[in-house]
Amino acid sequence: MSKLLVFNWKMNPATLEEAISLAKASDQENIVIAPPFVFIEEVAKVLKKARLGAQDVFWENPPAGGGAFTGEVSAQELKNLCVEYVIVGHSERRHKLGETDEIVAKKLKAATDTGLVPILCIGETEEEKNAGKREAVLERQLKTALSDLQLTTNNLQPFVAYEPVWAIGTGNPETPESALATIKFIKELLKNFRISDFGFRVSVLYGGSVNSQNLQDYIKYKEVDGALVGGASLQEEEIKKIIKLI
Ligand code: PGA
Repeated sequence: MSKLLVFNWKMNPATLEEAISLAKASDQENIVIAPPFVFIEEVAKVLKKARLGAQDVFWENPPAGGGAFTGEVSAQELKNLCVEYVIVGHSERRHKLGETDEIVAKKLKAATDTGLVPILCIGETEEEKNAGKREAVLERQLKTALSDLQLTTNNLQPFVAYEPVWAIGTGNPETPESALATIKFIKELLKNFRISDFGFRVSVLYGGSVNSQNLQDYIKYKEVDGALVGGASLQEEEIKKIIKLI
């Protein structure tokens, strides 16, 4: 199966011109580009092969006229812009903006109810890792996030991104062997949750300081379904090298 790469631009770049240039450089099959909301519409116009993603979504999906949620963006609004994928529960939102597991669960439900493919981010902090709590944290995050999905039967294929918090943006990725072991653990958990009973096949990505030098070390494993790339997806030289690898 081909691997998926999700390019998470975070709050970058500063100008539309740069955004268009990055989008053109990244326009390949099996790539999802998640620009900031403000650039989505213009980026959509230049993409021919890559798919469009968003970095976040609000949990309410109000009927027409019911959108009294200042500053938020609904799943339906994203859908109307041809967005197909949405990142939910990124650790920067969890840890810098106070997003709880319960909020993540509501966002995941709003996304799937609207037909957006969710990319659910989970991962432990450095303290949690050092305290031997990695598996417990992942299980809690996954269980809570999926708890509202029991009634959803639309045939989406969700993604989980395993992103150890301490590996994001630090240049200090998890080792491929350990990332593989954790991804196998996540896949076992998903089996136990009997998520396949609801028509889901969940793919699991690795994220955290992935670049052109180390990408292959992760995606060479059949259990690793792709990667979520932050910083390297903002550098055109890196993009050129990365897209040759998938
Ligand atoms: P990074 O970011 O590749 O810069 O570590 C990954 C992410 O968006 O979580």
